[in-house]
Parts: sequence; structure tokens; C-alpha cells
Amino acid sequence: MAQPWRGVIPEYREWMPFGSDVAAVTLGEGGTPLVHSAWLSEIVRGDVFVKVEGDNPTGSFKDRGMTTAISVAVAQGAKAVVCASTGNTSASMTAYAARAGLTPIVLVPHGRIAAGKMAQAVMHGADIIQVRGNFDDCLDLSRGLAKEYPVALVNSVNPMRIEGQKTASFEIVDVLGRAPDLHVLPVGNAGNITAYWKGFVEYHEAGVAPSRPKMWGFQAAGSAPIVLGRVVPDPDTVATAIRIGNPASWTLAENARDESGGRIDSVTDEQILAAQRQLGAHEGIFVEPASAAGVAGLLAAAEAGQVEPGLTITITVTGHGLKDIDTPMSRVGSIVDTAIDADVDAAAEAAGLR
Ligand code: F0G
Repeated sequence: MAQPWRGVIPEYREWMPFGSDVAAVTLGEGGTPLVHSAWLSEIVRGDVFVKVEGDNPTGSFKDRGMTTAISVAVAQGAKAVVCASTGNTSASMTAYAARAGLTPIVLVPHGRIAAGKMAQAVMHGADIIQVRGNFDDCLDLSRGLAKEYPVALVNSVNPMRIEGQKTASFEIVDVLGRAPDLHVLPVGNAGNITAYWKGFVEYHEAGVAPSRPKMWGFQAAGSAPIVLGRVVPDPDTVATAIRIGNPASWTLAENARDESGGRIDSVTDEQILAAQRQLGAHEGIFVEPASAAGVAGLLAAAEAGQVEPGLTITITVTGHGLKDIDTPMSRVGSIVDTAIDADVDAAAEAAGLR
């Protein structure tokens, strides 16, 4: 019988900076599909694979880092955990906190959190505190609370988050049998690009992968502090998950870019929404807007002739489309194309079969 996937701590425990005394709080996260995209491969004249992180238990990549952060917090005796979030971190944190019996405290920016993500935190029993400010203000508050009160901070400034999230790179190499030439992903608070780079570097140093990829990160144009080289005090984008003006892992993201010979660039909201829709229509993969930023970036680079042919490219789509249906559907207009009576001939007519 095939061995079921056990979650990222049991699967990659020897790559974790903690011992067997830390018991895994897990929902079976990780082990997500790496799906070949014929559509993108043709456009870039290479081989493109999509790492579908929306297939994690709470619908985003955050679960990889939350299993490690929560497991270690429990081992250290924490009773409560706090995070700032644009939605996915809180959805994930509250799920893992529920399993571990910890009290979750969630700080979210006023408005602009996708409804599906809020529903997740509510159903996992969180105290949700809405802050009159943006994500960056929430993160400052979250840090302040953790400093002055007995609560563990589980944002990606907690190094255990990075340790868990780096396993996505391990999975990519394990499946491809080598590192890709190029890895593409969206950038918000910049924890994930940091984590992927750490994973690729560790596998390379240990001789598991003979090479390391270039890292390409994409921010939303209205929230592109790393691209602009300055804090964006009032970040704005339809991709609310990456609406962040002062990323916590700014320098680490620049290191990943520079050490890998990569780039961090921006894409417009229009490019993001177009990429989201195209990925859904061509590949059957429905992602949330922020998750399409990497795809949008790769498409723009290909159009500008910046992708050399023949490369193996992996691209992370970070969260499931069902978390935020309002943003794409507000552009779609009517959902129903034609209304008919319950009659086969009428259905055939409407479907263009005759
Ligand atoms: N994609 C999605 C769907 C996200 O939720 C996030 C971050 C990112 C990309 C960017 O990742 O921050 O590591 O660069 N969401 C955080 C949250 C900020 O609170 O859920 P990053």
C-alpha cells in the first residue's frame, strides 16, 4: 500500500533545527501537486510546472510554516499565539492553534480582507481584532504584544515559519529530480521567497541538488516597496494578500534575489487579474489574485523577451481561489449565460450542439 503523506515535519524532520522532542502539530500539510503547464510551457518555450499551494489544508502555503511555528510554540509552553495577517496567515494559524489547544489572537487591517479567509478564522474560534491601519501597523502591534505579554508571535519573522515553508523547495527538487533553472513567486511580506531560497540552498549545499535556481519575485504595482526601494505608506492592490508596504523580510528577499542572480519586479492589478483568469481557464487551477502575481510576472517577462528558451521553470501559486470570490466575480458580470426550460433540445440548442 502506498504510504500516505504525513505532513512536512515528519517528512523532512532531519532538515529541521529541532529534535524529536518537538511533537508535530499537523494537518497533513505539504505534498502539494507540481502540475506541468502546457500553456505556459509553450509561451516561454521551456518547461513550466505550477506548485499548487492552494491544495494545503487551509488553502494556502502558510500551513507549511504554521505546523513548525505552532509545534515549537507548544513545545516551549506557549498558551496563546498572535499574528498580523492579510488573511491567510490567520486562517492557518487559527486552524493549527485549534488543534494544539492554544488561544489564537488575530490582528487584521481594517477592510480589504477576503471574506473566505475571515470565515476560516471565525470557524477556528479566533478572537479577531480589526486594526484601524494597514498590515504593517498590525505587524508592529503583533510584535509589541509578543514582547510585552506571554503570547508567541507566529508571523514569518518567527524563524520556525521559514523552516517549514522551505520544504516546498525540497518537494520541487524531490519531484523534478533536480532544481529548476528559475523559480517564480509572488512577494508580500517576503517570508516565502526567503524560505524557498533557504530550501534550495540547503539542498544544494547537501549535494541533493547540483544547482540552484534564479529567484524571480513579483509584487503588486501599488504595493511594490522592494521594487521602488522605499516604504510604501499606503499600499493598494486588488491582491489584498500582498498589500504590504514595508515587508518584514525585505533584506532577506534582496539577498535571495542577488545571490541567485534573480529579480524582483512588479505587475499591475490588470495583469494579475488577467493571469488569474487565464490560469483558471487554461489549466484548471483557480488561485486567489495575489497568487497569480507570479504567473503575471512570467507572462510579462516572456512577452518582453526576457525568458531564455529551454528552461525548466517552477512557479508557486500560493493560495486557493475560493478564498476570495468577490474580487474576480466583480469583473465577470452575469454568471449565467442562458436560462432554459428543462428540455434536452433546448439545452442542446443553448450549448451550441445543434
Ligand atoms: N500569496 C498569498 C496568497 C499570501 O497570503 C501571501 C502573504 C503572499 C502570497 C506573500 O507571501 O508574505 O511570504 O511574501 N500573506 C500574508 C498573510 C501576509 O497575512 O496571510 P510573503
